[in-house]
Amino acid sequence: MTIVYSVLAPLKDFSKASYNIPKGLASMERVDRIMNAENDIKEPESPASLDGFNDSIEFNGVSFSYEDGKEVLHDISLSIPKGRTVALVGQSGSGKSTLADLIPRYYDACAGSITLDGTDIRNFRVKDLRSLIGNVNQEAILFNDTIFNNIAFGVENATMEQVVAAAKIANAHDFIMEKEDGYQTNIGDRGGKLSGGQRQRISIARAILKNPPILILDEATSALDTESEKIVQEALDRLTSTRTTVVIAHRLSTIRNADEICVLHEGRIVERGRHDELIALNGYYRKLHDMQSL
Ligand SMILES: Nc1ncnc2c1ncn2[C@@H]1O[C@H](COP(=O)(O)OP(=O)(O)O)[C@@H](O)[C@H]1O
Ligand SMILES: [Mg+2]
Repeated sequence: MTIVYSVLAPLKDFSKASYNIPKGLASMERVDRIMNAENDIKEPESPASLDGFNDSIEFNGVSFSYEDGKEVLHDISLSIPKGRTVALVGQSGSGKSTLADLIPRYYDACAGSITLDGTDIRNFRVKDLRSLIGNVNQEAILFNDTIFNNIAFGVENATMEQVVAAAKIANAHDFIMEKEDGYQTNIGDRGGKLSGGQRQRISIARAILKNPPILILDEATSALDTESEKIVQEALDRLTSTRTTVVIAHRLSTIRNADEICVLHEGRIVERGRHDELIALNGYYRKLHDMQSL
């Protein structure tokens, strides 16, 4: 009996192994597909040097479609001078996020060009270009790691003091300190152990720490409740006053003071100007504005 029992377990392992092998092969195939995926964003052969941002970002007749071929941006021309705040508003699906994603080259324009200080951004090294840009998105991109590492992501040799200072500005310090391990708390896959608003504040802290000359805020406060939104908005206002900012807002009250507001409708800029001018125009912007005041 003893012999039979001691043989049983290894025998079972044999049969398990036989179905683990095809399982492993299937996983390998899927991993391979990712490892061998081709990156559509090509590095230039002789990259232009990029030291800082001095003048402006220009969109010249930019059109864009995703892989399905349906054009989502049509002939966009837009100038974003250094130090200014340009706001994009419009219905959901009008192409605001797509437009903002073209600046750090998450996608490349299909027609037209985007220039930074007069040079096509496709001539810069992707790494150099992105080092100038801070991005706070609707969906915070977080990693299964500690809060400290998530905030310090992309900044080499960040010290604890710098991370804490950034978290304080982003109004995240208090909730972090309430966690058992403070800044060393692990936040789970994609930050799953945090609430939506907390995730967003971590990603705002990350942008503050990176301190880039260009900021892209894509509905950066959409996951916050009104109370924390107000505080984070103050932090963002302080941050954007000295920087070049592209801001996409779901709440029009937060972009009142933008230097230029562009209203997107079905992939076109249909109106542009300052808040008062657009209100006086009595068009799309006025309609959005009136709906929100209700
Ligand atoms: N990755 C994608 N692949 C295909 N179509 C997309 C993708 N992302 C967005 N779209 C489409 O592009 C259009 C514009 O989307 P988006 O820029 O996200 O709008 P907004 O940010 O203004 O809500 C929508 O019609 C959307 O369905
Ligand atoms: Mg969007």
